[in-house]
Amino acid sequence: MGSTSALSAVAKRLQGKVALITGGASGIGEATARLFRSHGAKVVIADIQDGLGRSVSADLGGPSDCLYVRCDVTKESDVRDAVDAAVSTFGGLDVMHNNAGTIDPYSPLAETDKSRFERVLAVNLMGSFLGTKHAARVMVPRKRGCIVMTASTSAIMGAATPASTHAYVTSKHGMLGLMKNAAAELGRFGVRVNCVSPYGMATPLSEGVLGGAGGSARVEELFEAYSALKGARLTVEDVAQAVLYLASEEAKYVSGHNLVVDGGFTTTVCSPAQIDNPFVGESMN
Ligand SMILES: NC(=O)c1ccc[n+]([C@@H]2O[C@H](COP(=O)([O-])OP(=O)(O)OC[C@H]3O[C@@H](n4cnc5c(N)ncnc54)[C@H](O)[C@@H]3O)[C@@H](O)[C@H]2O)c1
Repeated sequence: MGSTSALSAVAKRLQGKVALITGGASGIGEATARLFRSHGAKVVIADIQDGLGRSVSADLGGPSDCLYVRCDVTKESDVRDAVDAAVSTFGGLDVMHNNAGTIDPYSPLAETDKSRFERVLAVNLMGSFLGTKHAARVMVPRKRGCIVMTASTSAIMGAATPASTHAYVTSKHGMLGLMKNAAAELGRFGVRVNCVSPYGMATPLSEGVLGGAGGSARVEELFEAYSALKGARLTVEDVAQAVLYLASEEAKYVSGHNLVVDGGFTTTVCSPAQIDNPFVGESMN
């Protein structure tokens, strides 16, 4: 093999694979769809934003390379049909990315509507359950496959950000439990299950609850202020890279894992001693 072809063989980490990405029309899901395509995967984008979904699909080669299907992840028949579309169009399903998510505006417990709480759980947690269930249905008989869920720093701590609503934090914690239990059951069939847990970044989801008139700039400013790692800003592409790792052969023995992409936020920023430590600033100067 010449050096150029050797390089391209290394570079294409999902050649011949088929991936389904829920919430793939925007934000982290869109970035993951773009990265997966650049690594040779055929992609199914499952979302409820038809215009955006079709335009990303067209940009990534059209239905023969990147198929858009309308799929509300809270409806089991939609999720079942999206998985079946991946199998009938591209011949199988190797990677399921349960990524679709929603968040409610922050409210104190006493003012949090039951229906709003249920809606967030329905999309984030029930949607991930349905995606996992139907991916397993087609992966188990083939004795291979990989399921990745987009959780959050809100999956491992309470009140991680000003947007951490009771419903959102509950739904994301639930996703970790689902991931662990699914990994336990599906491992014996060669199917890996993992989560990726990002810190905050500007996307339509976070802008909707935190941006106000300031839009994405305001959201970036807020997350920057609370971040533990300075000099770098988390982007949707960074999260897509983490999903790519979990989906690729490089992670062939990684299962039941929550890959936290937070610049050390959840392991450091909780310490008031560190935040208020006057010696840290001095010793760095
Ligand atoms: N943006 C952040 O700061 C952040 C941080 C940690 C985790 N996350 C998680 O990342 C995931 C992706 O969110 P994002 O930030 O890219 O936001 P986004 O708004 O850009 O993308 C979310 C996508 O999910 C889709 N979606 C919503 N409800 C759906 C439903 N019922 N069925 C199918 N699709 C549906 C939306 O149409 C949208 O395309 C979410 O699970 C979110 O909780 C986001």
